[in-house]
Amino acid sequence: MLQPPCISIVQYTDRLRRRIDVALAARCEPGDGCPPVLCEAMRYSLLGPGKRLRPVLVLLAARACGASDEAAMPAACSVEMIHAYSLIHDDLPAMDNDDLRRGRPTCHKAFDQATAILAGDALLTRAFEVLAGEIEPPRVAAACCATLAEAAGACGMVGGQADDIAHQGETAHPEDLGRLESIHGRKTGAMIGAALRLGGLVAGADTAKMVALQRYGRCLGLAFQITDDLLDVRGEEATVGKRLGKDVALGKLTFPGLIGIPRSRQRVEQLVSQACEALKPFAGAGEHLEALARYVQERNR
Ligand code: IPE
Ligand code: IPE
Ligand code: MG
Ligand code: MG
Ligand code: MG
Repeated sequence: MLQPPCISIVQYTDRLRRRIDVALAARCEPGDGCPPVLCEAMRYSLLGPGKRLRPVLVLLAARACGASDEAAMPAACSVEMIHAYSLIHDDLPAMDNDDLRRGRPTCHKAFDQATAILAGDALLTRAFEVLAGEIEPPRVAAACCATLAEAAGACGMVGGQADDIAHQGETAHPEDLGRLESIHGRKTGAMIGAALRLGGLVAGADTAKMVALQRYGRCLGLAFQITDDLLDVRGEEATVGKRLGKDVALGKLTFPGLIGIPRSRQRVEQLVSQACEALKPFAGAGEHLEALARYVQERNR
């Protein structure tokens, strides 16, 4: 448990979030050749009021492995850039067709579809520029680029998104649970796992710690997407900041849709316990990651 002085994980991560926001803004400045409206759209989506879960995970994993926030901040920013791009594209009419994100109009509503697609592309590219240019030594920068590319790419987030769309509108059967875990594991879990591994990589963590972060990330990532599915049926729009009830309307394969709300909640509890269990090699140094897992179970946004 958290040691005195006892501050809740929300307060603790609030401080981190403020520093992450400053770091993100500094890395998303208008540059020569970048059309002002493109930069405005990138900043609109990147700096909007999100939870910053993934960059917080990078920093907490790095701290748990003994690295400074300064060393891990470029990696934290790169993960949030990929996340922001994935949200912009996820909201497009060709995908989930959403008009509300983080309590504000989605990027393609605030700007237009072409600008939104290009702002996503530019954030995706910028993420790798930040990693390649700022992480030291170059060997670690290369490992970070490879880790992030694998998680964000066709066998990770993009593949999960493709299957999420491909199976939309199909009649769900209980035997689809394995497929659903695979979709959620890729579209959401892969990037959460990458955030943790990047934190470990910049800290030069040993194999035991990298394996522990991987296990924790796998459980946390799935738990996080199940709670996202639950918020879509049980959340409050004003708090969540997104249109709710969309998964049923679009015929998405979701946990509550497949196994019901009580069993979905039980699965989250089980996954969060397993995530905490995976942190054993960190002993006391894993306390904040443990608290964050418990927060994911209880989150209302
Ligand atoms: C939303 O992610 C998309 C999912 C993977 C469920 P978050 O719930 O982390 O969104 P923000 O960053 O806080 O807006
Ligand atoms: C989106 O999942 C996952 C990614 C953006 C990669 P959802 O479609 O469930 O996310 P929300 O509910 O729109 O935030
Ligand atoms: Mg989606
Ligand atoms: Mg969506
Ligand atoms: Mg959702």
